[in-house]
Amino acid sequence: MSNSMTQSRGSERSSYVRDMFTRIAYRYDLMNRLMTGGQDARWRREVIRRASLPPGRNLVLDLGAGTGDLAFEALRQHPETTSVAADFTLAMMHVGRHRRNGRRVHWSSADALKPPFTDGIFDAVVSGFLLRNVLDIQKALAEQYRLLKPGGMMVALDTIRPPDNLLSPLIRFYMNIVIPALGRLLTSQADAYIYLPESSARFLRAEELSARMAAVGFREVNFRRKMFGVVAIHWGKK
Ligand SMILES: C[S@@+](CC[C@H](N)C(=O)[O-])C[C@H]1O[C@@H](n2cnc3c(N)ncnc32)[C@H](O)[C@@H]1O
Repeated sequence: MSNSMTQSRGSERSSYVRDMFTRIAYRYDLMNRLMTGGQDARWRREVIRRASLPPGRNLVLDLGAGTGDLAFEALRQHPETTSVAADFTLAMMHVGRHRRNGRRVHWSSADALKPPFTDGIFDAVVSGFLLRNVLDIQKALAEQYRLLKPGGMMVALDTIRPPDNLLSPLIRFYMNIVIPALGRLLTSQADAYIYLPESSARFLRAEELSARMAAVGFREVNFRRKMFGVVAIHWGKK
């Protein structure tokens, strides 16, 4: 079922993604910590460091924010930041809003393919595990470019299609067997954690994502692989 969903197009897939995150919202944070062995917190710290927010007052957008981990991390590293968290799944933002400091984040209902913000207003646009889900990656990247001030940084953390190497069988076992089992156990929503490995396997390789970023205008594009190449942090400057 989810296999056809990772391949399906248009509003059907958007509704599926929104419905899936609605069903797992209440266990989403716990699942992240368990699946990554707590590493995701370190990656998020790096995402915000690489966003190079200017000192003093600044504006950061966490797109596809979910429960707002990156928006919260921006506030933690830069308490003077105005942190906007935007997502199209209200249930995820609802969980985030009830977290500690939830009211310090500005929550916004938005589609990453047409974010309702003015051109060139953000000092940084960051995302965590968003890009793999969007229907039109080029459009999503172009929108992030549009929203940035000149010199502003875009930083994306996501699972990517891992390189083939000696570890590939182990990685496949972890992604295709361990993660769905953990998801079934903790959320009773097995399909969501079958969708995760499937959408990662179908997503771009790290070099391909860099090329897409450069194609919409980002400069100084680069990336770092994490967790045996299953995850990467990409960044680029407007
Ligand atoms: C895997 S979660 C990531 C949440 C959070 N950013 C994190 O790092 O944990 C993906 C989020 O992206 C959101 N999302 C997917 N497609 C979107 C779109 N087109 N517009 C806005 N949000 C989207 C989902 O609703 C979900 O909350």
